[in-house]
Amino acid sequence: MKGDAVVRVKNLTKLYTSGYIRTTEVVGAKNVSFDIKKGEIFCLVGESGSGKTTVGNMILRLIKPTSGKILLDGKDAFSYDKKAYWRKVQAVFQDPYSSFNFFYNVDKPLNDAFDLLENSPSKEERKKIIRSTLETIGMNPDEILGRYPHQLSGGQMQRLLIARSLIIRPSLLVADEPTSMIDASTRVAVLNELLRLKKVAKMSVLFITHDLAQAYYIGDRIAIMKKGEIIEQGPVRKVIFSPKHPYTKNLVASVPPLHERWEL
Ligand SMILES: Nc1ncnc2c1ncn2[C@@H]1O[C@H](COP(=O)(O)OP(=O)(O)O)[C@@H](O)[C@H]1O
Ligand SMILES: [Mg+2]
Repeated sequence: MKGDAVVRVKNLTKLYTSGYIRTTEVVGAKNVSFDIKKGEIFCLVGESGSGKTTVGNMILRLIKPTSGKILLDGKDAFSYDKKAYWRKVQAVFQDPYSSFNFFYNVDKPLNDAFDLLENSPSKEERKKIIRSTLETIGMNPDEILGRYPHQLSGGQMQRLLIARSLIIRPSLLVADEPTSMIDASTRVAVLNELLRLKKVAKMSVLFITHDLAQAYYIGDRIAIMKKGEIIEQGPVRKVIFSPKHPYTKNLVASVPPLHERWEL
């Protein structure tokens, strides 16, 4: 195994079973293998139902693999205790409001982030760090702090979660379709914040999307999923400009506006 892989998954498989008497099995993911290096944005791309979220959720330990291995910093993901794992792996989900409690203002999740750290700073220091982190990602703390989730836009919420990651500095951020429920106008801002995590904090990101253009915009390497399996993976430009698999060729060809959006 290469030493610089932050996460490495090997033959990761998830079969969902349902029913009691006659159980049926659905393939969520099958023999999925890839690694993500430090400071790399790795994209999982595929149509709805191809198994992207299943893979992301296994890496987040939200669901248990049927078989296969997940290594985080060289150690079995399931060997970490809960808190140690959350310090290393954080998530941004599709629904920007799902990670927030509507009864609390948004300061709380930012403050709580410090509880995950080994050396938690004082209350005063926390305040300073929160303000400077928000400024780092181009948000005005006075417009954000003290507000409640319903007072902020989806794009602002996603950026807050990314700010939270800058506080925790996990080894890996799993971002599952983080832009699909927010306005097109703020989509690029969220993608740029993810790029910033990579550049400023050398964080690794697993970016999950059905949108090849977004993968092209931020990804270093890309894996194409179909029916639970990775059919092709490699550097983004290589996979998109000289796809090997017919399915990938179709995927590229079926997004004609891609070429225009690449000029973003
Ligand atoms: N909890 C579940 N129980 C049964 N089947 C599931 C469950 N979650 C996902 N699936 C199935 O697994 C496959 C992959 O789903 P998913 O990982 O959500 O794909 P994607 O994120 O690419 O849309 C789909 O066929 C889906 O119906
Ligand atoms: Mg999904």
